Amino acid sequence: MRVVLGVAGGIAAYKAASLCRLFTEGGHDVRVLPTAAALRFVGAPTWEALSGHPVATDVFTDVPSVQHVRVGKEAELVVVAPATADLLARMAAGMADDLLTTTLVTATCPVVVAPAMHTEMWQHPATQANVATLRSRGVHVIEPASGRLTGSDTGPGRLPDPEVIHAEALAQVGAAAAGSGELPWAGRRVVVSAGGTREALDPVRFLGNASSGRMGMAVARAARDLGAEVTVLQAAVEVPAPEGVRVVETPSAADLEAAVGREFHEAGADLLVMAAAVADYRPAQVATTKIKKQDDGAGLTLELERTPDVLAGAVRRRDAEAAQHPQERRQVVVGFAAETGDEHGSVLDHARAKLARKGVDLLVANEVGVGVVFGQEDTTVHLLTPDGPVRTVGPVSKDEAARAVCEAVTPLLG
Ligand SMILES: Cc1cc2nc3c(=O)[nH]c(=O)nc-3n(C[C@H](O)[C@H](O)[C@H](O)COP(=O)(O)O)c2cc1C
Repeated sequence: MRVVLGVAGGIAAYKAASLCRLFTEGGHDVRVLPTAAALRFVGAPTWEALSGHPVATDVFTDVPSVQHVRVGKEAELVVVAPATADLLARMAAGMADDLLTTTLVTATCPVVVAPAMHTEMWQHPATQANVATLRSRGVHVIEPASGRLTGSDTGPGRLPDPEVIHAEALAQVGAAAAGSGELPWAGRRVVVSAGGTREALDPVRFLGNASSGRMGMAVARAARDLGAEVTVLQAAVEVPAPEGVRVVETPSAADLEAAVGREFHEAGADLLVMAAAVADYRPAQVATTKIKKQDDGAGLTLELERTPDVLAGAVRRRDAEAAQHPQERRQVVVGFAAETGDEHGSVLDHARAKLARKGVDLLVANEVGVGVVFGQEDTTVHLLTPDGPVRTVGPVSKDEAARAVCEAVTPLLG
């Protein structure tokens, strides 16, 4: 396959050398198009030696071969990694002021872009608007990873690992080849719950949990990138929902149960992924005024009651409705289990029991503990289905784990 690898002038340009190798080792013919700024980070000899082709940045090199049009027209895949804020802006504006951008406006093949920049640049409304514009035109923009940036700062903006970019880029080519450019989940409606529910105690206090919402948001992002129409049922979260998904606020277990009824059952969505950490218990009485501290030093006893089992309830209703309308497409339910091993069994033992108890089509189990999983960037997940073998993925980023979850769901969608 003829691959164009665009490299823009960011500190992560050196990682594109590994990406180049992944493509050449896969037998692809790679043409590297660095911007002039990129060459200040990694020089032309590196790209020429790795790709086996000369590199040029401007449209006036090798004019007789009309490079500014030919390279784009001949490309079967264009990957830009890293894409700077500047390059995203030039792409969104349709500019064509160097060989990379003329190639981008002539290419008709899948275009995959991996932005990398400081968090402030990534979150700037101009950058976000440019990304939205590019996505609306069918460009596949890979969400940057979170973590250590150039200096000592951390946050979203890191270039994902070359292996991740390589896999996503090839997946885009596969999707394009599979069906007239249609993504594999195009036309699918997906509902994902994310975050931790909060159960009110009084007007200012609640019982909550440490879920950050990262895993749910990663699943929402992966489903969106596969072409699905995604609704996030959002409890308390520490991270924003990805661009391009619909958000419904569901602060408590009861709110979540009602939203699952509306958005999954009544709306006839294809897939429900319950990644939210839903409280098992809530205060039996919610005080209408703030509970006062007693001056006598006495403690406070709370009476808790069970919350609705939203996941099991969703499976029961799905099964009941499917029995009434057997001809309709089967709705898929995926559960998450945050487990700890204990004297009664390992994480997998508890996960198997939960899979059977809840009746879900796929259970994603991960080990939790102090500082493990909740709020962390990386995770290890075990994917369990009623009849297949357990598949373990990790430790990987939550985005990668989410892609593995979607991969496991695809054959279930029917
Ligand atoms: C040390 C250094 C690191 C930089 N890293 C980034 C970066 O990671 N992402 C980014 O968008 N811009 C970064 N810039 C700014 C770009 O180099 C600058 O916007 C340039 O105009 C980009 O040109 P290009 O998009 O044509 O490659 C960096 C600049 C310097 C000096």
